Amino acid sequence: MNPVTFTAEELEAIQGWSTDSQTLASEILGRYPDKRSAVMPLLYVSMIENGYVTAEGMKVVAALTGMTGAQVQAVASFYSMYKREELGEYLISVCTSISCFLLGADDVLAAVADETGVPDGETGDDRKFTVEHVECNGACGGAPVVLVNYEMVEGVTPDKARELVRWLRDGGPDVVSTEEMQQLFGSRKSFDWGVREIEGAVLPVPAFGPYGSAKGVS
Ligand code: FES
Repeated sequence: MNPVTFTAEELEAIQGWSTDSQTLASEILGRYPDKRSAVMPLLYVSMIENGYVTAEGMKVVAALTGMTGAQVQAVASFYSMYKREELGEYLISVCTSISCFLLGADDVLAAVADETGVPDGETGDDRKFTVEHVECNGACGGAPVVLVNYEMVEGVTPDKARELVRWLRDGGPDVVSTEEMQQLFGSRKSFDWGVREIEGAVLPVPAFGPYGSAKGVS
């Protein structure tokens, strides 16, 4: 990986970002032979920088990738994980696709909404929680599935979902980890994961080192 050196135009576009985000952007761009390939990770960096994907953030990504603003917006608006509004500290996503639905996902979602006081698709006034329903997460064998900041818990009942919300509210962890939540609030898993998770999520974006959104868990 060779971080790129920004041109004068790129530097001008990115000057409003923090030094950390600028460094991340330069490292991410260095991973790809074609700058356009960096559009998706850079959109995550813009989310981390601004709290969500802003119009200004998309302009920066366009300047760094050589894409038009419309092209960047097309990507950002296509994928539901690029959020266009500020999120709560914890993004709780309940899968309501068919396997999860058949095993009670609607009741799990209702329990999450009731316990957080945040309706599906909204963020609470105190910005602690955002609640949403999502499509299949590919863990149908462990339905119903809930994610917190994209860290997955499988086999969640409505009562366990309420416990999970209370746990997050009453001093929830800085690093959200699938491993820990599965032990505390999950039951049947889709399969044996085999390896121990070593990183968790520190923000409501997927935990991934190159985005700066992951931290080690003990
Ligand atoms: S239907 Fe919920 S994980 Fe597949």
